[in-house]
Amino acid sequence: MCSPRTMTQRVSVHMLPSLIEAGSLAGGVSVVIDVLRATTTIVHALANGAEAVVPCESIEQALEAKAAQSQSQGAAGMNSKVLLGGERHGELIPGFDLDNSPFAYSPEVVAGKTIIFTTTNGTRALHACRTASRVLIGAFVNHASLVRILQADGRPVHLVCAGTDGQLTAEDILFAGAVAVNLLKGSALPVADVQTQMAVDFFQARSGDSEMFLQTLRNSRGGQNLLHLGMDADVQRASQWNLFEVVPEWHAAENRIVAARPT
Ligand code: MLT
Repeated sequence: MCSPRTMTQRVSVHMLPSLIEAGSLAGGVSVVIDVLRATTTIVHALANGAEAVVPCESIEQALEAKAAQSQSQGAAGMNSKVLLGGERHGELIPGFDLDNSPFAYSPEVVAGKTIIFTTTNGTRALHACRTASRVLIGAFVNHASLVRILQADGRPVHLVCAGTDGQLTAEDILFAGAVAVNLLKGSALPVADVQTQMAVDFFQARSGDSEMFLQTLRNSRGGQNLLHLGMDADVQRASQWNLFEVVPEWHAAENRIVAARPT
């Protein structure tokens, strides 16, 4: 017997931010997905003790955000508390403290720090979700706690894939499928739309065998970019399930990502 929640919760996958229909996110919970690597890395940052992540769409905005934080809170104290992180073309941005590797966000480096963060696709996808009532951040590394928080919330769920350079990418669709499968388990509702159905089918086809699952991430657009940069360790890290319990939540009005409180 299913609970009333699983009987009624609606789930929609958006395979790219550009495929979100105008007005469709209002009143629901959006989950931003950029498995390789922005959302995997944000989970690592908060799980390892960062106070907050401040997502910026451009390098210029990131530098301005750092200057504003330093000014408002006193340059001497703040400079040591604020780190600049992210990537362009997968690599460290000149003058930044951290690249976009989850391994860079270790407890020794990020505990107690605010990370001002800009990436090519992930932080932009986040800003595309600003009309949602709630915005969470998901990756395989926090899958189980994300699903729990979505189930407890009960509002319609929009799984928003960041894609890579405006193109579909398999790793985000794979994760969206994984979340949709769990949320729709036992549901009386028909699968909502073709993108959701395709994500579910893709996950079911590629997740049975762990080597095939990892290879699907490696073969994806984001995975290929990272392999060309010699970053297979990051792909492997991003393929691991449930390393952390933290679910990052973006508070758009203050532009801060912090750990979500259990609903
Ligand atoms: C992005 O947000 O574009 C990605 O996380 C790129 C990357 O893997 O560094």
